Amino acid sequence: MKKRDFISLHDWSAAEIAALLTDAAGLKAKRKARVPQALLSGKTLALIFEKPSLRTRVTFEAGMTQLGGHAIYLTPQDIRLGERETVADGARNLSRWVDGIVARTFRHQMVVELAEHASVPVINGLTDLLHPCQILAALLTIQEKRGDLTGCRMAFIGDGNNVANSWCTGAAKTGVHLTIACPKGYEPDPSILHEAREDAKGTGARIQILHDPTEAARGADVVYTDVWSSMGQEEERAKRLKVFQPFQVNRALVELARPDVIVMHCLPAHRGEEITDEVIEGPHSVVFEEAENRLHVQKALLVTLLTGRL
Ligand code: CP
Ligand code: NVA
Repeated sequence: MKKRDFISLHDWSAAEIAALLTDAAGLKAKRKARVPQALLSGKTLALIFEKPSLRTRVTFEAGMTQLGGHAIYLTPQDIRLGERETVADGARNLSRWVDGIVARTFRHQMVVELAEHASVPVINGLTDLLHPCQILAALLTIQEKRGDLTGCRMAFIGDGNNVANSWCTGAAKTGVHLTIACPKGYEPDPSILHEAREDAKGTGARIQILHDPTEAARGADVVYTDVWSSMGQEEERAKRLKVFQPFQVNRALVELARPDVIVMHCLPAHRGEEITDEVIEGPHSVVFEEAENRLHVQKALLVTLLTGRL
């Protein structure tokens, strides 16, 4: 049987994504009921991280522990993939010892290359281009809070970054109507957008990009934001702070959305920049529920990929 990877939501069908969310809800309920779920006993996961992380690292490590398996965290200093040895050789070595690989890299192509050469599943833990695990967690959170994903109106306010790119694909696959409001020149990746619009034909999702945050927020069911400078863009920070100022998620913007709007953020947040303290601490915010759901969706993903169940 051919192994599966989780590089982009584009590679997974709408039915497979729905099944992952159902499995995640089941695993979440079991954990709340303290029912042990040793579904991956004896399995080992390697985590390759070129960038910092709190949520992704801890949820994958804790997830493996909770499923009866084990995770090994590797920093660039440990392995210097692509430098000390080729990415392909790294992938082929790891495949002899472990049952799955999570990689967080700068270059998206590095994760693609790892997946090409590994004989075990490779999971994208964030690249400069995509962050699909985050979108799975966000989708589960929206499903819990609003019931149905189909027809839900999402306003993504801010940078057309890796999270926005993965939102395009995630919305397209699940029938969420997505409006991204970003400054001119900071739109999502054109090829991802094109691919998402093709995917959206199957679900009826509308995906639009505009430059007025108030237009995007008006009547939205969900307001989503992320940092203005992603990891690796530190040198652009001063410029971005100015360009993105009108795109802050603050009380005035949230008041344009539906009265029961939920406000989401992948975290880490830069309070006072892309989101105010008042909004992130306010009654609409579900940022910590979303963070919790990283654990549950990734456990579902690990069980699916490492036991070959899909
Ligand atoms: N949201 C997210 O991926 O957080 P980390 O960068 O802390 O992993
Ligand atoms: N866009 C952010 C997401 C962090 C989880 C970054 O890439 O830094």
